[in-house]
Amino acid sequence: MTPLPPSLISTLPGGYYADEGVFALEQAKIFESMWFCAVRASDLGRPGAFRTVQVGRESVLVTRARDGSIRAFLNVCRHRGARLRTEESGEVRHAFSCPYHAWTYDLEGRLIAAPNLARMPDVDRVAFGLVDVHVREWLGYVWVCLAGDPPSFEADVVGEVVTRLGAEEPIGNYGIDDLAVGRRIVYDVKANWKLLVENFMECYHCATIHPELTEVLPEFADGYAAQSFVGHGAEFGENIQGFTVDGSEGVDRIPGVGEDQDRRYYAITIKPQVFVNLVPDHVIIHRMFPLAAGRTIIECDWLFREDVVGRDADLGPSVELFHRVNVQDFEACERCQPAMSSRAYARGGVLVPSEHHIGAFHDWVLGRLGAVS
Ligand code: FES
Ligand SMILES: [Fe+2]
Repeated sequence: MTPLPPSLISTLPGGYYADEGVFALEQAKIFESMWFCAVRASDLGRPGAFRTVQVGRESVLVTRARDGSIRAFLNVCRHRGARLRTEESGEVRHAFSCPYHAWTYDLEGRLIAAPNLARMPDVDRVAFGLVDVHVREWLGYVWVCLAGDPPSFEADVVGEVVTRLGAEEPIGNYGIDDLAVGRRIVYDVKANWKLLVENFMECYHCATIHPELTEVLPEFADGYAAQSFVGHGAEFGENIQGFTVDGSEGVDRIPGVGEDQDRRYYAITIKPQVFVNLVPDHVIIHRMFPLAAGRTIIECDWLFREDVVGRDADLGPSVELFHRVNVQDFEACERCQPAMSSRAYARGGVLVPSEHHIGAFHDWVLGRLGAVS
């Protein structure tokens, strides 16, 4: 094979994006081993509210206990393994009752009832309770970790933001915990999760597929507005009033946003499955749920000040801008996915200089999988 010219470096081979064996390894070594952003905490409004989410190969039941704390369990009945809840979300009054033989667990996961349980006094109700999953709350989201001994949340999750922004304070200014979900759109994307991460990390494609975004952020048209510059936020164009589809004024600015953050857009990737987008009047957060080598569900939340959402302000132009960006990006990724198993892509493709930082992501993936890069 002829060596690559210095301008180009290789991507991962196509098989890494299409092979279910690689995907199974990623589930084990990445999604089931790291902190995974699962649920917006405000979606669990009161005790008994629950959501089920796919984390790696496991279904996880996330709920709010009676004391208001958030708990997460594997969604598996300890009797004979029935899935406790199959709905994506719902609410129980006091307990989760298995639909098969009616083993029943309280909101803390303890086994509290089962047919004939009184005749089995040797059955320990805690030992046969639901299997706990580690939980953390940050940015108003519930993060779960399936690992027995979770990695440091501060290093792996907060650390990613600090590496990108230079400190934790800049993201704190947006008060993301207190923002309200103004809009949520769920996308079912027929593409490998790594194509989505790579796409989010580069702007070489911005001029081609994002006419509205490059209008608002002219520097993106050069293709160099990468996330590799620490602390850098892309500046709004001169005639742009707000981060909206037509450049019109948005809604009320988030109070903590600093003057240096005003009229700027910051994109942050928190590996392995979260994208954060900060603009002065809202925050957009993507959570990816990889389901197969070629399929990823993305839940995207548009978060605004509570009073803005409460008074029914017109969020349309704000939401529409990034919704279009999402559709444009996801179509591009879907366009690439079928080619991942083509013989033309057996050795992968190449990254141009403005994409070279994606090479570090590839090295990170290979490192997690225990492969030699
Ligand atoms: S499998 Fe759940 S009660 Fe039997
Ligand atoms: Fe894009």
